[in-house]
Amino acid sequence: MRSPVISSVVRPSARDTAAAAANPIPDRRIAPALPTRLRPADLLRLTDETGEDVLAGRYDHRLPADGRWPLVDRWATRLVADDEVDIWLISWTPEKSTQLHDHAGSIGALTVLSGALAEYRWNGSELRHRILAAGDQAAFPIGWVHDVVRASDRVAISGRSDPGPLNPTLSVHAYSPPLTAMSYYEVTGHGGLRRTHTVLTDQPEGDL
Ligand SMILES: [Fe+2]
Repeated sequence: MRSPVISSVVRPSARDTAAAAANPIPDRRIAPALPTRLRPADLLRLTDETGEDVLAGRYDHRLPADGRWPLVDRWATRLVADDEVDIWLISWTPEKSTQLHDHAGSIGALTVLSGALAEYRWNGSELRHRILAAGDQAAFPIGWVHDVVRASDRVAISGRSDPGPLNPTLSVHAYSPPLTAMSYYEVTGHGGLRRTHTVLTDQPEGDL
């Protein structure tokens, strides 16, 4: 006796199969599934809004006492922390490059509050340089590899004043999901990129 379930299966006819082969389903691009519901535009907005709060003094209790910004080591304080996003304020100091790195499985964004940053980003074949001055923003999708340093230490910024040690270079960074790891890279002599090591860290832009 034939199973009613099996008997209900409709098998494609030879004509249907031939039609499907002649008209294949279009190869649609599938958006990558990210481990966060936030998007780069959300992080740009968050760093902008948080930066405004910093400039308005709403985080003064989190800043170095008496405005004594560290002059040697990069300094950072986490302003916001939840399951979806970490938001940090970073003070940049001379010659403290982040080294070439990614942000593992996190997307990121920044807003420069004062001074200027120099970013060297790997574009697939070379490092591209740009200056991010006060008010500028940048977003970092998955796979973004860059090196960031206080701008005045490496390049002259025409028409802009040197931030100087008493006028700190500050930026607000957001990472979603919160940063847990970073990989470091070096540019090879063959115009490629080699990953050198990976570290587990929740520190913004690497070790301070
Ligand atoms: Fe970074």
